[in-house]
Amino acid sequence: MTIILYATKYGTAREVAERLSGYLDDTVTHDLKAGAVPDLAEFDTVILGSAVYAGSIRKEARAFLAAHKTELAEKRLGFYLCGISKEEQTYFKDNFPKELLEQATATDLFGGKFDPQKANGLERLIMKAVAKQSGCIDTIDDAKVKQFAEHMA
Ligand SMILES: Cc1cc2nc3c(=O)[nH]c(=O)nc-3n(C[C@H](O)[C@H](O)[C@H](O)COP(=O)(O)O)c2cc1C
Repeated sequence: MTIILYATKYGTAREVAERLSGYLDDTVTHDLKAGAVPDLAEFDTVILGSAVYAGSIRKEARAFLAAHKTELAEKRLGFYLCGISKEEQTYFKDNFPKELLEQATATDLFGGKFDPQKANGLERLIMKAVAKQSGCIDTIDDAKVKQFAEHMA
């Protein structure tokens, strides 16, 4: 049994969790903002996904990793990120415990999504500067999501 835990601000990491869930058997998904984490003892596989903001995973993903590090060391693990830049190596190294990364069956940065209509003014300015464009962005690579699921199956 697999649990896919995700941390999102605008829904991209949730959407990816749902796509992964569609590719895998026997999964449950859980929003880390939605209260207590289910008992991990019921799952042999744990997938954790987070959006990246200013180089960091969301705070609820950080808190989850800190609180469950020992339990996670006993699981099959997959970690994914949603973000529009290509700093995959740096993001994983900076945000995940080294031992858990080494142990993970799959890690990937799938790309990101940004809808200026959902964002606030400051976020629009930041994204315009970073992405050098002001419209909607969708760089999610479904082939990568599928490949990740194949590794985790
Ligand atoms: C203020 C702001 C900062 C961001 N910083 C990063 C970043 O450092 N690296 C990155 O790859 N993407 C960055 N992004 C893009 C988000 O990671 C991307 O939009 C992602 O899909 C958001 O996921 P969510 O919808 O699950 O919150 C940033 C977006 C915003 C609005």
